[in-house]
Amino acid sequence: MRINDNFLELEDNYLFSTIAKKVANYQKNNPDKKIIKLGIGDVTRPIVPKVVEAIKKASDEMGTEEGFRGYGPEQGYDFLRNTIVKNDYKDLNIEPDEIFVSDGAKCDCGNIVDIIGNDNKIAITNPVYPVYLDTNIMAGRKGNIIYLPVLEENNFVPELPKEKVDIIYLCFPNNPTGTGITKNDLKKFVDYARENKSIILYDAAYEAYITEENIPHSIYEIEGAKEVAIEFKSYSKTAGFTGLRCAYVVIPKCLKGYKENGEEVALNPLWNRRTCTKFNGVSYVTQKGAEATYSEEGREQIEENIKYYKENARIIKEGLEDAGYTTFGGVNSPYVWLKLPEGVKSWDFFDKLLTEANVVGTPGVGFGPSGEGYFRLTGFGTKENTLEAIERIKSMKK
Ligand SMILES: Cc1ncc(COP(=O)(O)O)c(C=O)c1O
Repeated sequence: MRINDNFLELEDNYLFSTIAKKVANYQKNNPDKKIIKLGIGDVTRPIVPKVVEAIKKASDEMGTEEGFRGYGPEQGYDFLRNTIVKNDYKDLNIEPDEIFVSDGAKCDCGNIVDIIGNDNKIAITNPVYPVYLDTNIMAGRKGNIIYLPVLEENNFVPELPKEKVDIIYLCFPNNPTGTGITKNDLKKFVDYARENKSIILYDAAYEAYITEENIPHSIYEIEGAKEVAIEFKSYSKTAGFTGLRCAYVVIPKCLKGYKENGEEVALNPLWNRRTCTKFNGVSYVTQKGAEATYSEEGREQIEENIKYYKENARIIKEGLEDAGYTTFGGVNSPYVWLKLPEGVKSWDFFDKLLTEANVVGTPGVGFGPSGEGYFRLTGFGTKENTLEAIERIKSMKK
């Protein structure tokens, strides 16, 4: 069989394996040192009681004659799609059949390339969550990608593409920089997409961490976005579902792409067709768990966890600034993006932090060349460890 040669075009991503190797090696040679990991991109707090209760109840139902369910609707059960619309899209005129429940935003962001024609020009920010880039390379579009740098100079909001692009990937609040986008800045992208008949793929996986007023929770808060944007959301970082797996994608029915002859085609039925062909739905039990995150008690409980991670991010940010570092992010996000002193490379700082403070973070360059000179720390650790890590960094020579 002939392989898909596009896979050979992918660059090996050694980021997390290199980190793991360096940490293991250091620990082996220094067994008495307590290493604190602030590089972690996974949640650590347990699933909240209200969600556990809903999952248990749904499991019990599945064990009864009346409550047993086999294949569910590929797009998600109505009870969850309706609840999403009522809560996450209140006043935004999104309809339940515009929501597709899935097993993760990673899969959704990756699978969406199925409905995108191969000749499209794609704009991807840099540094970036690597899924957008790699899935387009796998689909054979390596030569069609342009990069939009997100840097201190542009306040971590990319400039509009100088040339016409067909697809723009945006992720806000951003991983890895932890920065948000204001409604005004996002509107510029929506206007660009409308003028250029482009589509924005908007990853809002960290939406629950937004604290500031003028940062939109959904791209559909921007006028006209429904005609040009697909939105990805996830329960992973919102409700600790990284192991349970549940997310959703929003594809408004008015969103159109074009045939070669210029004729319009609605994207919602295309995605529906793709979903029904390649996916058999998220388990009933998991969807019941996701539904419980919207109950009054569930919401209070998941907000406690988010507050916990945000407090850690605050401790990191303020601690680093006290120590004389410049930081970005960490206000509307669990991620803090540390600017390294002039001339210091991301991997050199990684080694210094590991050996001098016994703290692990993530080198910015691992998310793309524009991340060089930066370093990502996350609020997903325990509060005790976060406090200790910051004290150690403060007492480290700069
Ligand atoms: C920007 C971004 N999008 C999507 C995801 C994946 O989310 P999920 O767990 O729903 O697949 C992540 C996970 O780290 C992420 O950082």
